Amino acid sequence: MAIPRQFIEELHEKLDIEDVISSYVTLKRAGRNVKGLCPFHNEKTPSFTVYPDTRSFYCFGCGASGDVISFLMRMDNLDYVEAVKQAADMAGMAMPEDGYDDSMAKRRLRILSANREAAKFYNSMLYVEKGKKGREYLGNRGLSKEIITKFGLGYAPDEWQALCDHLKSLGYNEQELVTANLARRSQKTGRVYDNFRNRIMFPIIDVRGNVIAFSGRRVNDEDNPKYVNTSDTLVFKKGDGVFGLNLAKNSGTKQLILAEGQMDAIAMHEFGFNNAVATLGTALTKEQARLLASYADEILICYDNDEAGKKATERALPILRETGRKIKVVNMSSGKDADEILRTYGKERFNDLINASANETEYKLSKKMEKYNLLTDDGKLKFLMEAAEILAECSPVERDIYTSRLSEELKVKKESIETQIKIAASKLHKKQKAEQTKSESKQMFNSFDDKNNPERKKNIRAAKAEEILIASLMRNPDYYKKVKDSFTPDDFATDFNRRVIKHLISLIEGGNSTDVGMFVPDFDSDEISTITKISLLAENLANTLKECTDCIETIKKEKSKNIGDVGKMSDEEFLIAFNKKRNE
Ligand code: UTP
Ligand code: MN
Repeated sequence: MAIPRQFIEELHEKLDIEDVISSYVTLKRAGRNVKGLCPFHNEKTPSFTVYPDTRSFYCFGCGASGDVISFLMRMDNLDYVEAVKQAADMAGMAMPEDGYDDSMAKRRLRILSANREAAKFYNSMLYVEKGKKGREYLGNRGLSKEIITKFGLGYAPDEWQALCDHLKSLGYNEQELVTANLARRSQKTGRVYDNFRNRIMFPIIDVRGNVIAFSGRRVNDEDNPKYVNTSDTLVFKKGDGVFGLNLAKNSGTKQLILAEGQMDAIAMHEFGFNNAVATLGTALTKEQARLLASYADEILICYDNDEAGKKATERALPILRETGRKIKVVNMSSGKDADEILRTYGKERFNDLINASANETEYKLSKKMEKYNLLTDDGKLKFLMEAAEILAECSPVERDIYTSRLSEELKVKKESIETQIKIAASKLHKKQKAEQTKSESKQMFNSFDDKNNPERKKNIRAAKAEEILIASLMRNPDYYKKVKDSFTPDDFATDFNRRVIKHLISLIEGGNSTDVGMFVPDFDSDEISTITKISLLAENLANTLKECTDCIETIKKEKSKNIGDVGKMSDEEFLIAFNKKRNE
């Protein structure tokens, strides 16, 4: 790795991991460590732990772990060098002048500039003869010139080389067009051709104003698929982008309306709802939720009124809830989607729907109500059982409000509903607790035998001793001097742990820090996860010199046991092995 160790070390010293992570995650102190809700998976009880001592983090729920650089890589989708750069910015440190590879960063910039030129080209096509079909289509959908310009919409002509020729004339080479996914290369002829043809083009623009991708809608009903979207590139990952957020974030409200498709979001803007955004038909991801949450206090889900839309709503709710923002669902039953409702009933009607939108609990209760016949006792009973489960997850205030409401509507005593909720709540609590304890202990102590260390299973005693030795030396590098003559990495039974101890020794001998972060440049993210887990063993160790020497003894004992193939040994080796066995 080209970034000097010294620099990384200084960076870790200057940058407080707790500070950095708490700008993304709300952390609460729990003893020596701090805990919060994991940003990498959905959870209700915090299992994401930051260890300021070892400058690392570990999630008991999903196993995500590493140092501050790995955190930034995952959180902001950066490669190693970019994450170091960002961390250096945060720490107010200048990057070492040379000696690091910025070719990735350069390639990303090239894609972004090609995308920008492509967007300009597509837009210009709407105003020339070639773009007649696109212009007409947008006109038929009722889109004004202003809104077309506001979103930078465009048209990809019905040709194979239109964009390729244009971008080549600007100096982009074929490979660049292919990596940007603006063009494809034919398997047969090797020639490149435009990815988007005869389609209305929607640029997807991030909050920094970069054109990161495109979505192209067919103009002919016979063309399939209906939409063609940019596939994953260096600057775009499916499920990361939010259409329209670049505009909606400046709408002046702290509310965002989330639609399923870009045509819906655009229609909302057309009718004055400037806070509308859209995901691109894919299930909402936590990255998208986090992005929305950083620009809103309240998020209204406004998905299509069909089975797919309802399913998508159900799935989006828990993901959005994790953000801690106020979440509501708009009742869309009066039309197919926002676009249709607005164009059929107008702005006022839609505004009423927005104002009447239900919070998550109301939404879920209403869905359950539709399921049962509440005029019968049996229907009421079944409904109340399920309602109690929903309310068990709510705050006491919410519980009180909805219990009163339900009691009145269903003519059932408030106390009976409350009792039912208490039962459901205690079940829920037990379940959550059991799940958490199970996953914590399981994760922590049984999860080393992952794919990083395939030999671990066969050499479990040796491997455990190796891990404890590594953990202990990471935490107490001063012990190394005292034990170094009594073992070598070659005594280790497992390749992975041998690599780790070699790297650790080189850190100690180089006088470097032994934090997890010092392993990041030389191990991949899965391996870092394993190393973090190993390092956390030190939490439960005695951290004495004796522990190290015991481990070394076990490692050597196990090694001698493995000596089975007598025929391959020299006499001397055999004698040593024999004596060892006898001593045992
Ligand atoms: P819809 O089919 O609901 O499209 O898909 P829409 O937004 O209502 O568009 P119009 O009004 O029919 O023109 C919702 C979103 O799902 C994605 C698109 O982003 C679309 O906006 N999608 C849909 C795809 O990515 N591919 C498809 O084939 C269809
Ligand atoms: Mn739709």
